[in-house]
Parts: sequence; structure tokens; C-alpha cells
Amino acid sequence: MDIDERVCIVTGGANGIGRAIAERFVQEGAAQVVVADIDGAAAQKTAAEIGALGVACDVGDEAQLATLIGETFERTGRIDVVVSNAGITASGGVEAPDEDWQRLWQINLMAHVYAARAAVPLMLEQGEGYLLQVASAAGVLTEIGSAPYSVTKHAAVSLAEWLSIQYRRKGLRVSCLCPAGVATDFLDLDDPIHQFLHFSAKTPAEVADSVIEGMRDERFLILPHPEVGEYFQFKGDQYDRWLHNFSKLPEKIARRQRKMAGVVEESQIRNSKSDTNSKLET
Ligand SMILES: NC(=O)c1ccc[n+]([C@@H]2O[C@H](COP(=O)([O-])OP(=O)(O)OC[C@H]3O[C@@H](n4cnc5c(N)ncnc54)[C@H](O)[C@@H]3O)[C@@H](O)[C@H]2O)c1
Repeated sequence: MDIDERVCIVTGGANGIGRAIAERFVQEGAAQVVVADIDGAAAQKTAAEIGALGVACDVGDEAQLATLIGETFERTGRIDVVVSNAGITASGGVEAPDEDWQRLWQINLMAHVYAARAAVPLMLEQGEGYLLQVASAAGVLTEIGSAPYSVTKHAAVSLAEWLSIQYRRKGLRVSCLCPAGVATDFLDLDDPIHQFLHFSAKTPAEVADSVIEGMRDERFLILPHPEVGEYFQFKGDQYDRWLHNFSKLPEKIARRQRKMAGVVEESQIRNSKSDTNSKLET
């Protein structure tokens, strides 16, 4: 699908990946782009900057999402693209508190269910429509630092697959965006796993390029980081080896951190030596 003349909604659109996608949709000639975000003031600010409409919406609340989609349809007479992008994370394994598991379940999965519940009937009536579900590489691989994130993102991929199979012969298209690291506020640089992801992070604008290309081809899996596709294939081919290799990643990250700390220490020593030398020279 081309975005030209389309009516598009982007949730979590005030910042990061959502903002970049919304901006690209405007540049591609969308008839209207609605930037929806839990932070209504930020949504309006972003919308004013990129030429969109900004609306406050908490995607964890079904009534707010239904209103967002219903009002956009009433105003424009169409809903062509819904980008279900808002997502959150929390670190921890099975010991993570139930509140974290519930919060991530609500935003990373149920918000996609609510968006589809409101948009699909309207799209079926139109005979076409596009759902772009923003999951993560953690949804096809895993994220070692967060069980709730990995599990809820897998659920998001599974829902996207189901929607694609269910509605593709009725004119609807579904894509699932699964990036690895993207340089946004989402990456907590105090977290070693996020630091690791930051090394190979794409910019939000690069991710938006992949989205435009993927939607043009109507490709289900949109992978801005090609290596994610390779790992996913390896997982399908050799599941046990993939598990084994992934289990070594925390150790590898710790080693890299120690090495980097060593490099920093060494360069600090070198700098202080050259400081001392230059002080001696003057
Ligand atoms: N940044 C990454 O490395 C990365 C990698 C893979 C997948 N993702 C996914 O991409 C999506 C966007 O992430 P990002 O990096 O742009 O994050 P971000 O934190 O930069 O932006 C997220 C936006 O979502 C909004 N938001 C949060 N909760 C919301 C809610 N309940 N309702 C409406 N809006 C809400 C925030 O206010 C913010 O504007 C998320 O689903 C995330 O899981 C991010």
C-alpha cells in the first residue's frame, strides 16, 4: 500500500519510532495523520511540528482507543492505516512483580487487540485497510533482560499473524515491525542489555524507511535490522543450537563491558599521562 491520500493513525506517536513513522506518512502525502499518545501535550506538539493532528489517548484503555478510531472515521470517512506502536518495557525475569506483567500485557498486547477490534469492522466495510503492529525483535527472538517484554512481544507477533491469516482474503493487510535496538528514549543506557542494543541501533528515521518499503511490498515481517531475519531463520532451523548460543549472550555482554571499562581506564591513564607530560612541557 502507498500512503498517498491515506488516513493514518499512529499510537505512541509523540516520540521515537511512532513520531518518525508519522512524519514519514505526512511526507508521503497522507490525507491525514493522527498522532495519538498518552501524553496529549506531547502529541499536539509533535503534530504541530510535522503537520499532523495530535490527540491524547491511553491505548491501555479500550474506550479511549475506540473513541480515537471512531472519531477519526467520522471526521474523514475512512481509516486506512492503524499503526499500533505504543509499547513499554520493564526488566526482570519470572520474579518481576505481577503489576509489571499486567502492565506490559495490557499495553504490549491488549492495546493491539483493542485497536483491531475497533478498526477491523470499519476496514472490512471499506474493503481494505492496513494494520501495522509494532512488536520487536524480542517477539521473534527474545530479550534476555526481560521476560515480560519478550513474552508480551511474542504475543503481539502471534496476534499479528492471526489477523493476517484471518483477514488477508478480505482485503486487509497486516505487517509486524520487529526492530532490534532503535536510538530512542526507550533504551535505558544504564541497563547493560540496552547498552548492548545501542551498539547496533538504527535511527527512528531508518526504521520509518523500512516501514514505508515494507508496506509498499505488503510484507508481513518488517525487519529494519537484517540480522534479526538471519537469527530468526537459524532459530527455525536449529532451535536447540539457537537456545544454546543465546544463553551465552549475558556472558558475552559482561565481557564486552569489562573490556570497555578496561579501555576507558587505559585511555584515562593515557590522558592523565599526557596531561602530566603537557604540564611538564609548559
Ligand atoms: N527503541 C527500541 O530499541 C525498540 C526496539 C524494538 C521495539 N520497540 C518498540 O517500538 C515501540 C515504540 O518505542 P520507542 O522506542 O519509539 O519508544 P519511546 O519511549 O521513544 O516512545 C513511545 C511513545 O509511546 C507513548 N506511550 C507509552 N505508553 C502509552 C500508552 N499507554 N498509550 C499511548 N501512548 C503511550 C509514550 O508517551 C511515547 O511517546 C514500542 O512498542 C517498543 O516496544 C522499540
